[in-house]
Amino acid sequence: MRAQILFPIYFSLSSMDLLSYTFVLVFLFLIAGESVRADEHDQIQSTIKLNRRHTSAGFRPTKLFVFGDSYSDTGNNPRSVASSWKTPYGVTFPGKPAGRYSDGRVLTDYVARFMGVKSPLPYKFRKYAPHKLRFGLNFAYGGTGVFDTGNLQPNMTTQIGFLQGLIKDKVYTKRDLKSSLALVTVSGNDYSAYVSSGGSNQGLPSFISLVVNQMSINLKQIHDMGVRRVLVTTLQPIGCLPGQTIVSSYQQCNESQNAASSFHNQLLQQVMTSLNNNTKHSSFVTLDLFSSFNTVLTSKRDVTGNSRFDTPLKPCCVATSSGASCGSLDGNGKELYTVCSEPESMFFWDTVHPTQAGWRAVYLSLRSSLDQIYY
Ligand SMILES: *[C@@H]1O[C@H](CO)[C@@H](O)[C@H](O)[C@H]1NC(C)=O
Ligand SMILES: *[C@@H]1O[C@H](CO)[C@@H](O)[C@H](O)[C@H]1NC(C)=O
Ligand SMILES: *[C@@H]1O[C@H](CO)[C@@H](O)[C@H](O)[C@H]1NC(C)=O
Repeated sequence: MRAQILFPIYFSLSSMDLLSYTFVLVFLFLIAGESVRADEHDQIQSTIKLNRRHTSAGFRPTKLFVFGDSYSDTGNNPRSVASSWKTPYGVTFPGKPAGRYSDGRVLTDYVARFMGVKSPLPYKFRKYAPHKLRFGLNFAYGGTGVFDTGNLQPNMTTQIGFLQGLIKDKVYTKRDLKSSLALVTVSGNDYSAYVSSGGSNQGLPSFISLVVNQMSINLKQIHDMGVRRVLVTTLQPIGCLPGQTIVSSYQQCNESQNAASSFHNQLLQQVMTSLNNNTKHSSFVTLDLFSSFNTVLTSKRDVTGNSRFDTPLKPCCVATSSGASCGSLDGNGKELYTVCSEPESMFFWDTVHPTQAGWRAVYLSLRSSLDQIYY
């Protein structure tokens, strides 16, 4: 898995796919009269996608529904409390704070781009731009988990309830759901809440199985509503987040925390297998953030051959006093953080979230899995 990702995506596909990809690539090769360059990758990908749209009778999602936390939230959390609405969040895209937990785009935006649709509107704004509802909606709220995490925002069950409400109100029909894809991110807020409420290390494994069991219930609910494909992220290596690596001056991941991520992912894989066993096509698709983060953090080059991330574990936006965080101001409005000069050369933005460049690198390494949504 890891070695494969270092190769361009068209080398890591199943043999059936390899054939059609090779055909398109050779064709482009001939008309272009030159070798396929790395920066043409995006273009090729969209050509392939268009091809599939026209030729395959399979599934072509036109709507994206998103459930989860800050790895996928694009603006649902309230301005009054969320760092995602404070400077310097959003400095790269859209150029000012706009509710994303990054300097720019997040996973949701890249999944939407892959599908060829606009990034879905945050649920909170559904009334202000009704014409955009056709791209789906984003129900993710930063800081949330499958259980309540103490941040007073809707847990995953409640987020799913929002979509159920819209179906009841006929904002979306059954048919809409049939042509839609769901993205579900669970990035560890349940575990931070567990630790901060005094949960013990010994109790952690059984808490992890509670979390994954609840995920299973939620994933089934989403599919039972009629959503055709459900993309689910694995838990990233939480021991590599800057909040954990700061004790080693951003040199070393905490391996015991990464082992907890692995355990979560092992249980999640069993859940995915058994959910898929009960559906006709493989409706539940894993987006392996764990491998993808590891690949990007440990490789000096991304899949397009560009070198990047010289200090991969170090965040761009760093608090300058204890108790402060990226975006904090003191009583006189003075900044209690510093921002690096080139966010595009950093993987992490703050103590837990990737930069836009980080998400883009992760997305590039995930594209072969994303391709499975078309089967
Ligand atoms: C989710 O939140 C709702 C509303 O606060 C609560 O009733 C429910 O028990 C929560 N679900 C889980 C799984 O924690
Ligand atoms: C790694 O994380 C565990 C659990 O949070 C903690 O007890 C341990 O001290 C950490 N190890 C290092 C080297 O920071
Ligand atoms: C898959 O489903 C079949 C029939 O329902 C069952 O016998 C089998 O144990 C299931 N396998 C897994 C891995 O869940």
